Amino acid sequence: SEDPLVIFTPSGKRGRVPAGTPVLTAARQLGVDLDSVCGGRGICSKCQVAPAYGQFSKHGVTVAEDALGPWNAVEQRYHDKRGLAAGRRLGCQATIERDVVIDVPPESQVHRQVVRKAAAVRAVTMDPATRLVMVDVAEPDMHSPTGDFERLRRALLDQWEIGEVTADLPILSRLQPVLRKGEWRVTLALHQPREGAPARITEIWPGFFEGPLYGLAIDLGSTTIAAHLTDLVTGGVTASAGVMNPQIRFGEDLMSRVSYSMMNEGGAGEMTRAVREALDRLSVEIATEGKIDPGQIVEAVFVCNPVMHHLLLGIDPVELGQAPFALATSDSVEIAAAELGLTSVAPGARAYVLPCIAGHVGADAAAVALSEEPEASEDLVLIVDVGTNAEILLGDRNRVLACSSPTGPAFEGAQISAGQRAAPGAIERVRIDPETKEPRFKVIGCDLWSDEPGFDEATAATGITGICGSGIIEAVAEMRMAGLLDTSGLIGGAEATGTPRSVAEGRTHAYLLHDATESGGPRITVTQGDIRAIQLAKSALYAGARLLMDERGVDEVDRVVLAGAFGAHISPQHAMVLGMIPDVALDKVTSAGNAAGTGARIALCSRAARAKIEAQVRRITKVETAIEPRFQEHFVAANAIPHATAPYPHLRA
Ligand code: FES
Repeated sequence: SEDPLVIFTPSGKRGRVPAGTPVLTAARQLGVDLDSVCGGRGICSKCQVAPAYGQFSKHGVTVAEDALGPWNAVEQRYHDKRGLAAGRRLGCQATIERDVVIDVPPESQVHRQVVRKAAAVRAVTMDPATRLVMVDVAEPDMHSPTGDFERLRRALLDQWEIGEVTADLPILSRLQPVLRKGEWRVTLALHQPREGAPARITEIWPGFFEGPLYGLAIDLGSTTIAAHLTDLVTGGVTASAGVMNPQIRFGEDLMSRVSYSMMNEGGAGEMTRAVREALDRLSVEIATEGKIDPGQIVEAVFVCNPVMHHLLLGIDPVELGQAPFALATSDSVEIAAAELGLTSVAPGARAYVLPCIAGHVGADAAAVALSEEPEASEDLVLIVDVGTNAEILLGDRNRVLACSSPTGPAFEGAQISAGQRAAPGAIERVRIDPETKEPRFKVIGCDLWSDEPGFDEATAATGITGICGSGIIEAVAEMRMAGLLDTSGLIGGAEATGTPRSVAEGRTHAYLLHDATESGGPRITVTQGDIRAIQLAKSALYAGARLLMDERGVDEVDRVVLAGAFGAHISPQHAMVLGMIPDVALDKVTSAGNAAGTGARIALCSRAARAKIEAQVRRITKVETAIEPRFQEHFVAANAIPHATAPYPHLRA
């Protein structure tokens, strides 16, 4: 009679195998995605499957209760020790005896889909570069003298059909004690940048090591560094942590850091050391936070602007200070994490830096493109990632353009008289009554508005400490709407505005937002200098967007996506009153959260995503703001609030 038929779900792959074939073997033969770390020894349980019984008219089979063979001793032992859920079998032990339908549950698939929520819900398929494999290595023998690593390689070939494998010195030096401790059974973290590429051993554990493995997705910004500890099996974020970029002491923005490097012998090296030390500390901190051994971190993916990119890699950014702004390399970079000074992660851990687009448009912009997929958009989308530098993308299915615009740190609360980072105690929302000109506000860490009962008690612990980026944007926009500020950005005096909150400060005026000096607290005003700083920042942002629109030959866009940690908190309406973004219907403005960080996480979880963005950066057209005369024109016109010449019809509506 015929061999039994096996049908796998959800893949639908099917075929006939000789009776007695283990399910895992059949899965491999048919190309079904079924995980295994222990190589079929009944230890890891990653191969769990759920056989289905009964009649399956869809598949044209009837599955009998004894379609799979009875439990063998190995499966029984696993069940006694660790327990298999009802209906589950170990795929490496259960044998196929008769026609059968076998479901592979998501947790047994290496390439499982993880759905991430964004403006549009998208699925990412897990395809990490590093995986765990367990091997049994032959013991050394006086009569066949081979090295331990050669026998390990042999085991990988025999047990996993992995032919080409390398190990760097930090691994080779640990190999012998670990092999003996594990009594010739070890679990390896194997890194393969591409399917079928030579594998590299990046960590080694005695015996069976269950994992999971982790990666760091790092968004290395000029002002802040944010890291997400990511589970390489599920794609989930286990912990997040952030620190200030210590390079700030060498210069607040990118160009001042490039100048520091030009003016100071060894300056680039100092900045490289500073950022690498911070990253090393951050990796330990985040492992502690996630309650894992930092040795389980086997990969790190970096996204950053070109200057940060060069300084991270130890490349002098001097060429980025002058036209034509040549990058040392715009390709992605794949190296040992140890070369970047990460000392506490797995000894062979790898680092991947996303490709840059060109000139000042860096790996951070590439990460935003990977996360937001403008190249897949039916309508024309403008994506703005707001930080000390703004990354701006404009595009749709036909073509994607990108630029970077030097907004400065004002949007992050720096260079603002009462400015501070977004933290408890910072004013983040502001409303000003157009009649009375009286303000009310909300601070981070408290749900109440300042004029609601209980506000003082609720904020007593943190106090009101300053104003953060979203707060200052709303304050300026509200001042404009309340008539405290004219189109040119000039704050009126008490007489002109009719409120004693317009206070004189030297030869200019300021708006008094909060005064707690009597109780020893701060006095928070929005000064003329603050308004100027915001005007410069928003003009740079608008001019960048406008330049891309010119290049594309359009006067309007279909929708706007605000990205960046800060972009997530901006009120679209206030952003538009300020003229930060071009006019568009308010419901067409969405927030994408930290798109660059998300892009880093996608690249961490998926080799296919890395290949995709590596190809795509070549198709994105870079527009250089620094040398484009029209940028200056747009910048000047955008200085007015909202704008000197561009109409904002949606604001009137
Ligand atoms: Fe490890 Fe089946 S493959 S238990």
